[in-house]
Amino acid sequence: MNVLLLSPGYPAEMPEFARGLAEVGASVIGVGDQPAAQLPQRTRGALAAYVQVHSLFDEARCVAELRSALRGRRIDRVESLWEPLMLLAARLREALGVPGLDVAATVPFRDKEAMKRKLDAAGIRTPRHVAAASSAECWDAAAQLGFPLILKPIAGAGSADTWRCDDADELRAVLPRIAHVPVVSVEEFIDGEEYTFDTVTIDGAVQYYNVAWYRPRPLIARSNEWISPQVIALRDPDAAALRDGVAMGHAVIRALGFDSGFTHMEWYRKADGEVVFGEIAARPPGAHQVDQMNYACDIDVFREWARAVTERRFAARVERRYNVATIFKRAHGQGTICAVEGLAEIDRRHGAAIVWNSLLPVGAPRRNWRQTLVSDGFLVIRHPDLPTTLAIADEIGAHVQLHAR
Ligand SMILES: Nc1ncnc2c1ncn2[C@@H]1O[C@H](COP(=O)(O)OP(=O)(O)O)[C@@H](O)[C@H]1O
Ligand SMILES: [Mg+2]
Repeated sequence: MNVLLLSPGYPAEMPEFARGLAEVGASVIGVGDQPAAQLPQRTRGALAAYVQVHSLFDEARCVAELRSALRGRRIDRVESLWEPLMLLAARLREALGVPGLDVAATVPFRDKEAMKRKLDAAGIRTPRHVAAASSAECWDAAAQLGFPLILKPIAGAGSADTWRCDDADELRAVLPRIAHVPVVSVEEFIDGEEYTFDTVTIDGAVQYYNVAWYRPRPLIARSNEWISPQVIALRDPDAAALRDGVAMGHAVIRALGFDSGFTHMEWYRKADGEVVFGEIAARPPGAHQVDQMNYACDIDVFREWARAVTERRFAARVERRYNVATIFKRAHGQGTICAVEGLAEIDRRHGAAIVWNSLLPVGAPRRNWRQTLVSDGFLVIRHPDLPTTLAIADEIGAHVQLHAR
């Protein structure tokens, strides 16, 4: 099998997907805009070939460059696991005659208005929504939907340019800040808990799924630097409280006609139990959530994804043994990390539960916490019992502190 893998070196998880493909015997042809010599070691070890294109963001030119570079070579799959390249992957499938999501099937995964329109037609509960391309249209939307509202780009990511407005004064204040966004989705604000539904799907049938719980909701985590956001991969995604969300997830995949690969959906559960669709992407979640899936079951989901898209099977036996929590830390102060406080105590109390420590070491420059959820690093812990998992995660949030200056 010849698999074209877009951007095999970036972001951080891509080398693992490249490795997975190589391990199931695929011949992996990487496509990227960085020189081959700059690819991560793991990626280089997995690639059978590499095509360096001028830019991954000039789609027409990229398609032309690949057409000529691949002349005479049969391509069986085009894979992209990074959101900004989903449409390029679809264009390449069309240009090279490769099965998989085409442009028309990909658009509803990229455009949040097209997405919700399709799901509305299938009877799925989405937040009431209106697309708005000007301030006047935002005011019209507000009149139609009422407050509180959410305004967000139709093709956003990472809660960027996403605002909650509780009244007209707040909307007035937000409009200039989103003036650079061409089209926004104005939505009814849904109060509740926020979860994921992540799958590896083969020919439209879900073969593996994971439910993660965001603590707190991403928009709150991204608006408050002092918070140590948590993502918890739940040991029991079949719990009664999650049942409606999981059922909605299956229905969404059917309604959008997804075929094979990773999906990542977000959904909300209101206090009264009603579940509401959030968004879905035709790729895995980021921020090392696939590693969480691995830690939860001691399997290799990178490799099983690769097997799913090449051999159309998911071979690992899924036995969920643990809840897995990732706790992301943001340092106090600016500049360079000068102290990591509380880690020795956590290690003494919960060392057996800690499976990964990626906290920045003293001397490392701080990262931009608004641009990367990974922030100044994270701890990953796992435990069979959910209340214990949450208690340890909260303890890490409160007592492990990084300082910078
Ligand atoms: N209708 C809504 N009601 C309540 N919160 C929302 C709503 N839409 C978005 N949010 C909040 O904003 C965050 C980002 O929105 P989302 O649609 O997931 O976009 P992205 O993650 O692609 O930036 C969500 O995780 C959620 O916390
Ligand atoms: Mg989201």
